[in-house]
Amino acid sequence: MSAASRDRRISTKDISARSAANPIVALTAYTMPMAKLLDPHCDLILVGDSLGMVVYGMDSTLGVTLDMMIAHGKAVMRGATRACVVVDMPFGSYQESREVAFRNAARVMAETGCSAVKLEGGIEMAETTAFLVARGIPVLGHVGLKPQSVHSHGGFRVQGRDEAMAEAIRRDAEAIAAAGAFAVVLEGTVEPLARAIATDLGTPVIGIGASPACQGQILVSEDILGLYGEFTPKFVKRYAELGTAAAEAVAAYAREVRSGQFPAPEHCFGMGPAKSPASSAKSAVKSAADSAPKSRAKSAAKSPAKSR
Ligand code: KIV
Repeated sequence: MSAASRDRRISTKDISARSAANPIVALTAYTMPMAKLLDPHCDLILVGDSLGMVVYGMDSTLGVTLDMMIAHGKAVMRGATRACVVVDMPFGSYQESREVAFRNAARVMAETGCSAVKLEGGIEMAETTAFLVARGIPVLGHVGLKPQSVHSHGGFRVQGRDEAMAEAIRRDAEAIAAAGAFAVVLEGTVEPLARAIATDLGTPVIGIGASPACQGQILVSEDILGLYGEFTPKFVKRYAELGTAAAEAVAAYAREVRSGQFPAPEHCFGMGPAKSPASSAKSAVKSAADSAPKSRAKSAAKSPAKSR
């Protein structure tokens, strides 16, 4: 069943029941318009702390705050009515203790209305994950490459290349699944290991730079749309070049403003008797129609003045 054919919000329970035969389609969103665009097509929308890099231009996700995540979580919830919305817990908001994690996660849930939180970590976060899950906060795990641990990883590096590291990632995924996470994001991990984890875990694995054998896939929307030009990881497929299209549109606008081509008569309001806002909108259209050449009058009448 596609996400669009459902009429209630997809729950964390629905997500945890999914298999590779009916994979979880997930993308990130940070704003209402993007959430609205993704909602008919995605099962899960993540308000990722990647927003620190993609929206705020930071070098890593470490500078993202709880208030930023809550503000963007609220915006996304205004645009998404069907998808399961998950909000990332930012660095420093959950590692100190399970009680601090609960307090901050409860704030995220209450203030945004999202369905779950995501936190990065394996064995060391299992106790916290179980604590949140037992108290009504669904948790999406995140193991493998953990961007909040970029300095410990020594950079954004592919994980699991040697046997010891592979075993550690396997144990991390198992610990988070056993703690009750409804699904686990597996990022930047060598394919054979990712495949083995996805096959054996018994909890859906949502891959990003992982394996087609995962029960779902997630990417950053700006990456697939060509809206984030800083760098494109190998695991990203570009489905559009909206950044290039936007740059062309902005250049055309700048040219037309400088040459006097914009605004044209159809973008201007005519004079008329000042009455109620509704009737003045009508008369603005009428006077534009009266004073503009025929083809423009047509388009002015089609799109009456709207004040924003
Ligand atoms: O922050 C984020 O966007 C993420 C996804 C890339 C999985 O964690």
